[in-house]
Order: sequence, then C-alpha cells, then structure tokens
Amino acid sequence: MNQLQLFLSCAAGVEDFLADEVHRLTGLAGDDLLVGRGGVQLRASWRDALLLNLHSRLAQRVLVQLSHTPYRNENDLYEAASSVAWEIWFTTRQSFKIEVTAQHSPLTSLNFAALRIKDAVADRFRHKSGVRPDADTTFPDVRVHAHLTTDECTLYIDTSGEPLFKRGWREDKGEAPLKETLAAAIIAASGWDSVPLYDPCCGSGTIAIEAAQAACGIAPGSLRRFGFEKLLPFQPHVWEALQRQAEAARRSPSAPIFGSDVAFRMVDFAQRNAQRAGVAEAIQFRGGDALQRMPPSNSAGVMLLNPPYGERIEAAGVAGVGRSGARESAQTDDGSDFFPQLAAHWKKNYSGWTAWVLSPDLKLPSRMRLKESRRVPLWNGPIECRLFRFDMVKGSARARPAA
Ligand SMILES: C[S@@+](CC[C@H](N)C(=O)[O-])C[C@H]1O[C@@H](n2cnc3c(N)ncnc32)[C@H](O)[C@@H]1O
Repeated sequence: MNQLQLFLSCAAGVEDFLADEVHRLTGLAGDDLLVGRGGVQLRASWRDALLLNLHSRLAQRVLVQLSHTPYRNENDLYEAASSVAWEIWFTTRQSFKIEVTAQHSPLTSLNFAALRIKDAVADRFRHKSGVRPDADTTFPDVRVHAHLTTDECTLYIDTSGEPLFKRGWREDKGEAPLKETLAAAIIAASGWDSVPLYDPCCGSGTIAIEAAQAACGIAPGSLRRFGFEKLLPFQPHVWEALQRQAEAARRSPSAPIFGSDVAFRMVDFAQRNAQRAGVAEAIQFRGGDALQRMPPSNSAGVMLLNPPYGERIEAAGVAGVGRSGARESAQTDDGSDFFPQLAAHWKKNYSGWTAWVLSPDLKLPSRMRLKESRRVPLWNGPIECRLFRFDMVKGSARARPAA
C-alpha cells in the first residue's frame, strides 16, 4: 500500500533524471511521482523507501514527510512538531538531531528554529513516557529535517542517515573528487548504455566506478548502513529480502569501461576505490596525459569527464611544458592551453566519439573551438556548471573554425 509521502532530495538540475530512476525502480508514475524543486515527491510504501535507499544513484536522501503546516514564528514550529507522533518512529533510547533548511524564511535564526523543534519533540516524549530522548548533533541515531519556506513548514524523518552519496567505497580521494551522486547524474544525462565509456581525467575514479557498478548491476547502497535500521518500523526480514534480490541481480558488465589520469597517484587511488566497490575487474585504469592518450577501444564510445579547472585543480601534463619551461603542473589557472589542445587531440583521434564535459566555465565550447550539441545545467555543490556534449564527427564537421 502506498501510504507514505516520500521526498527524495537531489542536486539542482537532477530532478528529472531522478524521477526517471524512481519510475524505473518502483514503477511509480502519475500523481504518485511528482517532480519538485530539489527533489521528487512520491506516494510510496515503506518497502519502497528501503528499496530506494539501496538502489537510487541520484537521490541524496529519502525522507518521509510527517507534517506540512503554515507557520509565522518559532511558536508555530513548536506546535507543528508537538503534533507529530514521533513515538511511532523512534523511542527515548535513540538520540536525535534536527536539521533545518530554509528558502525565504522570515525567521532570523534557523538555529533557534531548530532548538524549538527539538524541544517540541523532546517534550512530546516526556509527556507520553516521562523521559526525554537525548539530542546529539554529531552522531545522532535519528535525523529530523524541517524545511521552511516563507510561510510553510514541512517536517520529515530521514530514512537514509549519512547522505546517499556516501556509498562506502571511497577511502582514497584526490583534491577535487566528484560526489558519487553527481557522477551518476552525468552518466544519466549522457544516456550511456552498452558502449565503451572512458574518463580521461578520472582522478579517484568516481565516474568510471559509478558506471561500472551500474553495468554490473551492483546496488549503490550495498556497502553501507542506513538511518532506517534504527527506526521502529524497520523489519530486518524485509530489508534482508531486498538485499538478497539485489545480490541476485549482479551480472557481467554490459560494456568496457576505462579511466586514465596524468597523476599516477590518482590512478592508484582509483584502482583501490574500484576494488572496494567490487568493480576492479570491470574497469581498466591507466596513467597518461589526456592530450596524448589514444582511444582505449577500437569501437567509438562516450567520454565522460570533469576536467581540471583552476578554482580547485589545475591541468597538468604536456599542456604546460614549453610555456614557462618544463613545468609539472600546467600553465594558467583557467586551463587556457589545455582545452584547445584537448579539442584538437579529440578532433584528430576520437572521431565517432561523444564527449560529455562538466565545467563551471560557460564559455568552454568557444575556448575549445567546438560547438556543443547539448548543455545540461548541473550544480557541483555550490558551483553552477554545465554538462556540455560534443560530438566528434569525422572530419570535425561540428568543430568551429579556429578564431
Ligand atoms: C577535477 S579532477 C577529476 C576528479 C574525478 N572526477 C574524481 O571524481 O576524482 C581532474 C583530474 O584531472 C587530472 N589531470 C590534470 N591534467 C591532466 C591531463 N593533462 N591529463 C589527464 N588528467 C589530467 C588531475 O590529476 C585530476 O585528477
């Protein structure tokens, strides 16, 4: 029975991809699956909540909505939180934390709002049982989320615990690793399926590993624990059945996957991460400069990458050498040599391939002297980016003439 109102949060720009994923995983559609700002809303079952935690690659959290009320001040928040039957969800033996997010809220302090909601939850338990549960802001057993708009407050209980991009396989990371959920969004946006996939600036291997897990039918949540395990409705036999089904769905990869990076340290990280993620056999990682590496497979495929960019990490390799002597890390902060050289290398050697490049630089296509065939807005944390698609047509038909 679809008796719960769920909200699956995701990064801005990912909502439609997440709705497609939820539909594929649960079969929900129509009024039971609505796309909102920063997430999707579902009418679904408790089992669906567990299933989505285990299988969603794009959601950040799976939240159960428990109330939605108008408010004007902190007292209204206290009243709203007092009216929720928290005792259905947890006991006084669990510690809890309130997390408040807001959009155009008139309240001056979200900390004070959180405090009032915390008091309301604890007071309700004290009235019912004489005991107050402990609040714990560092390692809570239970997380309650409050989302405030100008005049409405929505209260949720979190079934995920740690955010879902924490898959449990990443121990080695570089300076600018992509969140796993964003890597999954890049893969979803590209529509990749059954052709060779290559990330020539793979860093710690996030895109390749996410793709390989999907190709091998490995559930992204198979290595981690979830918040729902500490909630009262949790039934171990339901969860174990879902885990067994996920195990049984594993298969051989449907396509070859490759990653390379100019930094051998990164290649080493990527290999170790792939090992932990259970996909070491499904990916070939190599060292090498993206400006020199030739296609890793005979048949054309897709390249998916977030290349180095100044704000967080600079390009390295041959691009910088010669500009100011033999430098190890490349040239200008904005990669002004790297990108035209990369485009020239692709035009010459990668005809038939499609490249999807995530960048915060909205002028990247003109910098590369390529015309993009699509641009998808995506957010890398607080950084607004575009995912550009470049089709490396034979003879560079889509290439812009050099300025
Ligand atoms: C933004 S990071 C990629 C992060 C990666 N997606 C991850 O999740 O860890 C860019 C990567 O490009 C690599 N890089 C820099 N210059 C390169 C070059 N010329 N060829 C190949 N890789 C390069 C850096 O070593 C870095 O790992």
